[in-house]
Amino acid sequence: MTDLPQLELDLINAIGGATTVAEVEAVRVNALGKTGVISGLLKGMGAMSPDERREQGPMINGLRDRVASAIADRKAELEAAELDARLLSEKVDLTLPARPRRKGGVHPTMQVMDEMVAIFASMGFAVAEGPDIEDDFHNFTALNFPPKHPAREMHDTFFLKPDPETGERKVLRTHTSPVQVRTMMSQQPPIRIIAPGRTFRKDSDATHTPMFHQVEGLVIDRDIHMGHLKTTLQTFIARFFELDTVDARFRPHHFPFTEPSAEMDIRCDRSGGQIKFNEGTDWLEILGCGMVHPNVLRSCGIDPDEYQGFAFGMGVDRLGMLKYGMPDLRPMFEADVRWLAHYGFSAFSSPNPASGLS
Ligand code: DAH
Repeated sequence: MTDLPQLELDLINAIGGATTVAEVEAVRVNALGKTGVISGLLKGMGAMSPDERREQGPMINGLRDRVASAIADRKAELEAAELDARLLSEKVDLTLPARPRRKGGVHPTMQVMDEMVAIFASMGFAVAEGPDIEDDFHNFTALNFPPKHPAREMHDTFFLKPDPETGERKVLRTHTSPVQVRTMMSQQPPIRIIAPGRTFRKDSDATHTPMFHQVEGLVIDRDIHMGHLKTTLQTFIARFFELDTVDARFRPHHFPFTEPSAEMDIRCDRSGGQIKFNEGTDWLEILGCGMVHPNVLRSCGIDPDEYQGFAFGMGVDRLGMLKYGMPDLRPMFEADVRWLAHYGFSAFSSPNPASGLS
């Protein structure tokens, strides 16, 4: 004959001693599971005499009910404790500062363009734009490239398929100079604009990519001369490289759209493997420039006897490479996140002349 009070005591002790929900569950299976002790006692009632059953039945049922409710209580208690512990361990302190995890960034080309825009804006230039797909007139003819002139080939132009009706072949603009034409044809002087944008040429090596970026500049007014051009560009280059002054020279060159034309070089020293500006005996070519050719002014409906101007064009990516020490141009447009993480800029610090450029 089972000692029911002893069994109850043992079970209640086991339930009280359980420290996890799983332990309580083990006690429940032992007592009330299919082959559990109490289940065995309940089954045994079938074989009892009516008198025995009348006496034992209420005791066994009472035992079953008390043990079941003790198990339910202990389970609820432990579940609440486990939840409390989990909430405590997963607590989020919203007052903690965010961890600096830089995922995205500004591409160096965009950074450099923003720097250029900031500098020229402070000198009173507005930003102008034109389409990437240009017609022959804006990319070449209006810029004084003679028809069939080899200069058109010189640019390694990407030509689009000829228009089936007109036979016209559009081009991917080979430079940002067509924006000069668009601006002069739509605005009256005085004009003072820069035009940053994409340009395209069939060219690919360490310093050339088929798509690259230029910033064009154009100033048209009365009595504009080379002195304005030189001061503007020297001031710009000094600010861009964050130098007080630059030792520059303007070397005669040829562009169809300017006369005279020049390339601007700055003095540098490359002996230490790194470029140092304003030192040494080397010259680094930085940009092309010149006085706007009278034919270009005429093509755009401006009287060259009344207005003159200067223009310039420079490679944004190339200047970025020089400023930020990138050895190769090609990875700039390969979208490799490791390269971008290394050379990219924070999106939270946009360049401006007051807080600094870079
Ligand atoms: N368009 C020229 C190029 O792509 C650069 C250039 C030179 C632009 C002289 C100008 C300029 O506006 O005056 O190489």
